[in-house]
Parts: sequence; C-alpha cells; structure tokens
Amino acid sequence: MMDFKARWSFSLLYLILIFAFVHIIYSCIMSHKLTLDDQKVRLKKQPQLPLRFSSDGTFKILQVADMHYGNGAVTRCRDVLESEFEHCSDLNTTRFLRRLIEVEKPDFVAFTGDNIFGTSATDAAESMFEAFGPVLQSGVPWAAVLGNHDQESTMTREELMSFISLMDYSLSNTFPSAEDNLESSNQNPVKRIDGFGNYNLRVWGAVGSSFANSSVLNLYFLDSGDRAVVDGIRTYDWIKQSQLSWLHSVSKNFQGQKPENGQLACIPLTWSNPPALAFFHIPIPEVRQGPIMEIVGQYREYIACSSVNSGVLQTFVSMGDVKAVFMGHDHTNDFCGKLHGIWFCYGGGIGYHGYGKAGLPRRARVILAELGKGEKAWMGVERIKTWKRLGDENLSKIDEQVLWER
Ligand SMILES: *[C@@H]1O[C@H](CO)[C@@H](O)[C@H](O)[C@H]1NC(C)=O
Ligand SMILES: *[C@@H]1O[C@H](CO)[C@@H](O)[C@H](O)[C@H]1NC(C)=O
Ligand SMILES: *[C@@H]1O[C@H](CO)[C@@H](O)[C@H](O)[C@H]1NC(C)=O
Repeated sequence: MMDFKARWSFSLLYLILIFAFVHIIYSCIMSHKLTLDDQKVRLKKQPQLPLRFSSDGTFKILQVADMHYGNGAVTRCRDVLESEFEHCSDLNTTRFLRRLIEVEKPDFVAFTGDNIFGTSATDAAESMFEAFGPVLQSGVPWAAVLGNHDQESTMTREELMSFISLMDYSLSNTFPSAEDNLESSNQNPVKRIDGFGNYNLRVWGAVGSSFANSSVLNLYFLDSGDRAVVDGIRTYDWIKQSQLSWLHSVSKNFQGQKPENGQLACIPLTWSNPPALAFFHIPIPEVRQGPIMEIVGQYREYIACSSVNSGVLQTFVSMGDVKAVFMGHDHTNDFCGKLHGIWFCYGGGIGYHGYGKAGLPRRARVILAELGKGEKAWMGVERIKTWKRLGDENLSKIDEQVLWER
C-alpha cells in the first residue's frame, strides 16, 4: 500500500515538474516575442509643449528652405565648383543643418518645402528620415510644409504630410487642429480646406508673465501646392480661397485677446494683438510684380510664382497680424523686401542637391522674436529680427535686420 502511495506522489511531482518546465519555456519564448513586438510599436517622441518664449525673453526659429534631399551619400551635389564636386553629396546638406542647429540653438525649426527632391528619392520615407535627421536627433521641435517637388517620389502630398506629422518632435499637421477649426465649433460640418499642411502653431509667453498661458506669437503654415494648368498653360499652384478664409478666421480670434486670468486690467491694449509669421513655399505674384521695398539681401533670379493671384497679400493686409512671410522655391534669392508693410523673406536654399550657383555658399535664415520688458515680468512680442548663416567654414552671419518693432 505504501508503495502505491509513494509512486502516486512521485508521478504527481513528475507531472508538476513537466508543467513548470513547459510553462517556463513557454513564457520565455512568448515574453521574448512580446517584447520584440513592443519594440516595433514605437511611439512618437513628443516635443515639450506648449512652444513658449524662454526665460531670457526670446524665441528663435531656424528656417530651412529647399533641402532637395535625394538618397543621401549617393546623391551628388549640383552647381558646386568642379574642385568640390568629387566629395559632395546630400550628406553635405545633413552636415550643414547639423552645424546650424549646434551654432544657433534654435527653439524651433521651420522647413519651407522641397524638403526632398522627389525625382531623386527612391523611397520618400527613407529620404525624409535622412533629410530631417539632424532635427530628429537634436530633439528641437519642428514643423514643415511641402514644396512642389516633395510628392514626386513614392508618396502623395497627403501621405507625406501625415508621415511628417508622425515623426519625432514634429508639430506639423495635415489639417488645422480642432482648436483652430472655428467653423466646426459652430456645429457646421468641417469645411474642406484645400491642400495638406495648413495649420497654426501658438507660441506662449514666458513662464511667470501675464502671458504665460496665451499665445503671443502665431506661426501660420500654408500649403502653396505644386503645379497647375491654367487656360492650357503650365504654371505653379497657389493658396486657395478656402485656406485664406480659414486663416482669416483664426487670426480674427486672436485679435483683442485677453490673457486668461484676472490681471487683465493692468495689461495695456498694445499687447492684445499678437503678431504672426507665415510660412509657405511658393512666392506670391506681388513678389515678382513689386514694387518691393527696402530690399536687404540679394535678388539673383527671376521669381517663379503662379500666374494666378488669389489675394494672399490682400488677405494678410486685412488680417493685420502677419508681420513677415518666409518662403523658399527660388534658391538663389535670399532677400527680405516689403510689400504693403509686410516683409517677404526668402530662406535661401540650403540643399546641395538643389540648383544653386557654383561658388555661392548655400544658406539658411534665422528669425529671432524678442519680448518686451514690463515692470516685473516679460510682456508680449516687442521686436522681430532676422539674419542668415552661410554654409562656409565659419557659418558666417550676414544681413542682420529688424523686421518689426511694436
Ligand atoms: C562636403 O563635405 C565633405 C566632407 O565633409 C567636405 O570635404 C566638402 O568640402 C564639402 N563640400 C562642400 C561643397 O561643402
Ligand atoms: C497659467 O496657468 C497656470 C496653471 O494652470 C496657473 O498656475 C497660472 O497662474 C496661470 N498664469 C496666468 C498668468 O494666467
Ligand atoms: C573664418 O574665420 C577665420 C578666423 O577669423 C578667418 O581667418 C577666415 O578667413 C574666415 N573664413 C571665411 C570663409 O570667412
């Protein structure tokens, strides 16, 4: 009898051991698998939000125009000196962008289109990862709009914008945020806005100031499209009426705004209309027609714009808050000039695979907004300045100027 009992418990023990063994093996393999899967579901790295002025009262933007990125190391430079050609590729664009971020330490980077040169990029996603690489690695918040060449590879404009909006530290949006979709808050159905990449980014005042919880600077991003045919003639696209009326309503919402808590009474009215900067790729027809005043920088090439004037300048003038517009498209133009009191500034091409002029350094623009000083704390934006950096050994700083002062 004892014998039977002992054997029984042995078998039971044996069974338990087998179960335990199988369980350990199973959980090892499965948990390993699960970790692998977890790694595949990689979440976007979010920038620190909201965008805001730092405690020294400044907010610095680096404008990057026309990277024209292809496939990286194998994509050769265009329009460089013969002596430079041998050792020049897209990686020179990467290196220039990395140095700009190191030297200027911007709070934000704005890419104004033709980020990739579609016809040279075998895979749009790969090309964008490389093109935006330096800003992704830096952790600096950034946003982009599209030019007329971005969609010439493997993605449509809508796909490109949604991909860009999902990249690390990106604040780009394919469509305006609900917050800025004023039509829909009135229970109207969301109106379709032309294009992909129309959105507003708010920059809040300094911590501890009366403007800590409100936008003191708006950054308007607009999609200027790619190409179009008008009356059988090929031309560039233009910013449409739907985009302009959306922007107009966003802008109106900020006029006469009051900071959110009690201390409004002591805030002078002068601070209640936050200035705005606009970013898009293709210049408007008035930049070509002129007269463009107070030019700082160089007007080196004929302006390539649409034959259609959709009233962008007129809209900006009536909005009143847009103080400066930053564009790309014409790589060797790098000037700022005034139209009806609003500055229109070229970034100057940064991309070595984009056309340029041999011997003329690639370049990028920096924009610095400064807050006014109140008695005890920072107020709203008082001054907006700009300059450029050249892609030479010293990253030479040129053409510094004040664009706007309250
Ligand atoms: C491109 O980068 C290489 C390697 O860093 C450098 O030797 C070369 O001078 C650069 N070319 C230009 C045109 O900047
Ligand atoms: C901003 O919001 C924070 C947190 O809600 C609050 O503590 C602070 O008093 C607000 N400041 C202003 C100026 O509204
Ligand atoms: C860069 O700076 C050095 C030292 O100031 C100067 O000698 C050199 O000429 C500068 N190079 C350029 C391209 O400006």
